[in-house]
Amino acid sequence: MNKYLMICGMMLLPLAYSHSVLATAAVDELLAEYRSAGATEFSVEAGNTLWLQEFQDAQSGKMRQCATCHTDNLRNPGKHARTGKPIEPLATSVNPKSLTDIKKIRKWLKRNCKWTIGRECTPQEKGNVLTFIQTQ
Ligand code: HEC
Repeated sequence: MNKYLMICGMMLLPLAYSHSVLATAAVDELLAEYRSAGATEFSVEAGNTLWLQEFQDAQSGKMRQCATCHTDNLRNPGKHARTGKPIEPLATSVNPKSLTDIKKIRKWLKRNCKWTIGRECTPQEKGNVLTFIQTQ
């Protein structure tokens, strides 16, 4: 390998890790929990797909998705679809507090999956979506 490429590679390495490092403690613990509940490999792509997927609400007939409140750019602040209350960005790259509190993640995933999809997310889905959010 030529020297220039090697130096570039070495400089990029910490960048490549920095996203996940910001969130690991809480998310790693949850991912381990999901794995022991039967989940397999977690996928950023599957998380991204779930994030953008639209689900029809049985009562109102309206379409809902995670992005309804959090927007499709996780680095932007969101806005609660019903209350209009501002939501801090979920992306760990701009909001260092995001994904750091296990209780908070659990509570909101439960509530948000129910509201958006109409049921709780499976351990696999939760792991995929957290893995995706960590890369944002
Ligand atoms: C009806 C609005 C709404 C929808 C739709 C929604 N969320 Fe949220 N979400 C919130 C609010 C409000 C919070 C709490 C924000 C806060 O207190 O900082 C939150 C917090 C979270 C958190 C915790 C972030 C942290 O600080 O650690 C995660 C993870 C999350 N949402 C994922 C999702 C996923 C995945 C979906 C789609 C299945 C989704 N949300 C859909 C409103 C929503």
